[in-house]
Amino acid sequence: MLYQAPLPPAYTRMTGGEMRDRIAARKAQLGKRLVILGHHYQQDDVIEFADFTGDSFKLSQLAAQQKEAEFVVFCGVHFMAESADILTTDRVKVVLPDMTAGCSMADMAAIEQVEDAWDRIGRATDATVVPVTYVNSSAAVKGFVGGHGGSCCTSSNARQVLEWALAGESPTGGTGGRKVLFLPDQHLGRNTAYGMGWPLDAMAVYDPREPDGGLSDAEIRRATVLLWRGHCSVHQLFTARQVDEIRSLDPSFKVIVHPECDWSVVQKADLAGSTEFIIKTIEASTPGSKWAVGTEVHLVHRLAKRFEDVKTVRLLAGIQCLCTTMYRIDLKHLLWSLDELADGRVPNLISVDPETKALARIALDRMLALVGDGASKSMAASTVDKAHCVD
Ligand code: 13P
Ligand code: SF4
Repeated sequence: MLYQAPLPPAYTRMTGGEMRDRIAARKAQLGKRLVILGHHYQQDDVIEFADFTGDSFKLSQLAAQQKEAEFVVFCGVHFMAESADILTTDRVKVVLPDMTAGCSMADMAAIEQVEDAWDRIGRATDATVVPVTYVNSSAAVKGFVGGHGGSCCTSSNARQVLEWALAGESPTGGTGGRKVLFLPDQHLGRNTAYGMGWPLDAMAVYDPREPDGGLSDAEIRRATVLLWRGHCSVHQLFTARQVDEIRSLDPSFKVIVHPECDWSVVQKADLAGSTEFIIKTIEASTPGSKWAVGTEVHLVHRLAKRFEDVKTVRLLAGIQCLCTTMYRIDLKHLLWSLDELADGRVPNLISVDPETKALARIALDRMLALVGDGASKSMAASTVDKAHCVD
């Protein structure tokens, strides 16, 4: 985890109201020089100040569009701020209000482990292996993927990217000898490939903590999709049993979950998709509908409040599904960042080195090119398509 120096004591003494007033004043003062981006998992009082909100995909697109602003203050986690730095021009400075806002999933794939895995897989098979990394990964891992002919993906477009990576391969026979190494979230990889029709036995889990990744050469050769053993500590809290429980409590609830959840949860859910997909689906649902949602608590509570008079929205289960690193971005860190910028200093600058940036940009640009610029197009592909599943 990166280091964040304690804030000057004045910031911890201020009331919420004072901080809000001062943030609003700093925003007005910085004007068009500043853009604040906020991920859907941010706290309500932070999201209130975001100029744009979105899921990881939408925020990457928004970052790429920032040509005029001088500063992008990223209310999200470290890998998102790195992506923004990679996608913006050199004159745009990207700031993360608290440097300890990392992502445990991204930390599960260190670049050295990925390089070792690549060599190990290469020794076991002559097949073409296409690396695909979820954007929830370090810039170094994105750079590796870009430098080895692969692409990034988000939970909004994993299917389109996997279809590109596995072009010529078919789950029902006929193979062009291609494989995918999917990093670092085994669940997004498994759920997406399964939704495309790949059976579970066409997948194998590569565990970077095991000698040889815990796989024999034969297992590597047999698998079409090699899944990295990584997960989201928030979404792994949801279980298939919780889905059963909510259905027995009230069968009229529809269950919608994020594809970072375990395969067994996604199979039992009615729908699965990115945070943006979850929001759009609940927005479009009929009055009176009831939703049990398997994703981070801040987003679910915000949706519940927004629709309280017309729809029922609740967490899938009464568990602590809080992303503690997203939570580190709070009003005081946001205000401190804006104060520093207004005083001519750039705090917590996120700056990816030029060589890594160039390679990571290839992987991010490939994703953006594959899915086009239409959010609706990516939305359509964001649902984990259970119609293609083989039970
Ligand atoms: P999306 O923003 O792609 O829905 O992913 C959720 C998440 O876990 C971000 O870290
Ligand atoms: Fe990482 Fe999960 Fe938090 Fe997203 S919700 S930032 S994947 S730990």
